This record gives sequence, C-alpha cells and structure tokens, in this order.
Amino acid sequence: MSKLKPLLYVTRTLPQVAQKRLEALTEVEVKQWTGSGTIPSDELNKAVNSADGLLCMLTEKIDSALISSAGKQLKVISTMSVGYDHIDVQAAKDRQIALGYTPDVLTDATADLTALLALSAARRAKEAIDAVRDGKWQKWDPTWLLGSQFTGKTLGMVGLGRIGSAVASRLKPFGFSRVLYHGSQPRPERAEPFNAQFTSFDGLLSESDVICICCSLNEKTRHMFNKEAFKKMKSTAILVNTARGPIVQQDDLVWALNEREIAAVGTDVTDPEPIDPKHPLVGHSRAIVFPHIGSATEETRNLMANMAIDNALAGILGKDLKAPIK
Ligand code: NDP
Ligand code: DGY
Repeated sequence: MSKLKPLLYVTRTLPQVAQKRLEALTEVEVKQWTGSGTIPSDELNKAVNSADGLLCMLTEKIDSALISSAGKQLKVISTMSVGYDHIDVQAAKDRQIALGYTPDVLTDATADLTALLALSAARRAKEAIDAVRDGKWQKWDPTWLLGSQFTGKTLGMVGLGRIGSAVASRLKPFGFSRVLYHGSQPRPERAEPFNAQFTSFDGLLSESDVICICCSLNEKTRHMFNKEAFKKMKSTAILVNTARGPIVQQDDLVWALNEREIAAVGTDVTDPEPIDPKHPLVGHSRAIVFPHIGSATEETRNLMANMAIDNALAGILGKDLKAPIK
C-alpha cells in the first residue's frame, strides 16, 4: 500500500498564479477553505488537527489555544503576511512548530501606498474628490483647499525597518530637509542613506511634520498613538499608518482630528478590520481610510503566496524555511 502524502491546509483561495501552482503540487495533498470570507474557527480547528502544514492569512488568530489543540503531525505554520502579530510565536516554538512569513516581497507595494497616503492626506485629496462629486467646485480660487507640502519639512518614521526605509527613500526626494526615526535602538546602517537621526518618541512627535507608522504591532507599540501622543504633535502634522490599526487609539485619533491637534490622517489599517462604515473616522473630511490594501498588487500578492507555499513545503518536508520567523 502506498504511503499517504502529507497534508497542506490552505485557509483561503490564493491569487491566480500561486493558486495554479498550489493545485499542481504533487509532493503534498492540498485541502483548502474555498468558502466565502474567512475560514470559520471550527474548520480551522479541524485543519490543525489533521494537517502537516497550515498556510494561513493574517485574518486567522493563531493563538495558544489553537496551537495547543493541534495534532502532533503539525510541523509548520506559514502565514501569507510579513506581520505576525496574529500568531502566538512562543506557543508555536514550545510545540516545535516552524513558522514562516513573507518579508521583502511586499516592501515596495506597501511603501508606494504609504507615500500615496502621505501625499493624499497632505494635499486634501478626499475633500477635493468629494467637492467635485458634490458640485462644490466653482471658479479657481486662490484660497480654496490649501494643503501643505513637504519642502523643507521634517519626516518622522516610527520604525525604520524594511518598509520604513523604503518609505523614507520614496518621500525624501519630495523635499524633506530632515528625517527622524524612532525604534527600540538606533539603526545606523538603515539611517545612513537619509542621514536620519534617531530620536525619542516624544522628540519625533513634537518635531515632525509628517509621521509614518511603519513598525510592527507588539505590546510596546499597541496604542502608542493616544491622546497624550497627539497632544505632543504639531497641529499641522500629517499622520500615516500602514502598519497595524491597534498601534493607534482610534477614538483618540478622531478626538485629535476634531480638536485640531493634528491636521490630517491617512490610514490603511483600522481597529477592528473592517471598520464600521458609520465610525466617525470613515466620514471625517480629513481622514483617508483605505481597506488594508498595502500589499494589494497582482505582482506582490502572487510573490507573497508563492513564498508562503515555499515555506509551507519546506516545513512539511523537514527542510529549512526560506523565510522563518525567528
Ligand atoms: P520590519 O521588521 O523590517 O520593521 C519593523 C520595524 O518596527 C522595525 O524598524 C522595528 O524597529 C520597529 N519597531 C518594533 N518595535 C518598536 C517600538 N517599540 N517602537 C518603535 N519601532 C518599533 O518589518 P517590515 O518593515 O517588513 O513591516 C512592518 C510592519 O508593516 C509589519 O509588521 C506589518 O504589521 C505592517 N505591514 C502592513 C502592510 C499593509 O498592507 N498595510 C503590508 C506589509 C506590512 P527596531 O527593531 O529598531 O525596534
Ligand atoms: C502584512 O503582510 O503584514 C500585511 O498587513 C498584508 O500584506
């Protein structure tokens, strides 16, 4: 009797090119959640009980309860994302389950979207589009819809990692005279191309004209941007968040916009996701809210999915992962 193939469970239909590759795999049997929306928790529980490898999305909560309920055969969890705040890394380590993620391949797409949000928020793109749609565009007016520009200003980066560096390299040529960054420690090799100065969080808040949040979500960064932080920012400041929603205290953000503690926000992430369309942030004229599309290009999503497949296969076959979470 021939030996059964190991089982790879995939929690979502993948982008087209990667999906075709998945369907053609011969070394593993593939099972997949193809229902509408995210995989229900009972299906996910069943999956970790029978699969040798799990390929998941950031929408799946891979907590200690799920990991401890997994069958002994589960060797690898491969997430199709670079952020892994949805995974209890320690719990997986304790069970000797390998973890894979998708760094680098999504850096350009996410940095592009961050630059788009920064420019759109500074130049009041939402108000401009709405004005044209609502028939409020009259003759050219020297005082209408004046935004701010980056020339001679200070850019503040929270997190100068892969995406943060790519954002700074895109935005600096728009004329910023200075780049500040904050993180857990100075990163001279990353800072060198922009002559970026390491600063305290308070220093970054009070001196920056545009602040881009590009850090991971962890216990130190959760709700880092709250009322106290907004009060320290310039009233003309632009905030951009393409990292994770809970880094910003969302109700405090609405308060800061209403009180004119800051000028405008552009965000690709909210807390929770999706945000209630009736939430005051969504309708706010000085808030641009995107539905978590930082990595959403055909090219990038296929690269991410292929990398997640590579990680899953390596883990199942007992090889080194291409991109392990350390
Ligand atoms: P990196 O690991 O390269 O960068 C993470 C950065 O977070 C590092 O610079 C790190 O700095 C910083 N950081 C960690 N803790 C703190 C802290 N306490 N204070 C300030 N900074 C901190 O990851 P990537 O650049 O590849 O990705 C960053 C994040 O972007 C992901 O974790 C993910 O959540 C998000 N993301 C969102 C996307 C979207 O679709 N909107 C797409 C892709 C990613 P240091 O190590 O010096 O502390
Ligand atoms: C990630 O990879 O962490 C993003 O949020 C989605 O691409």
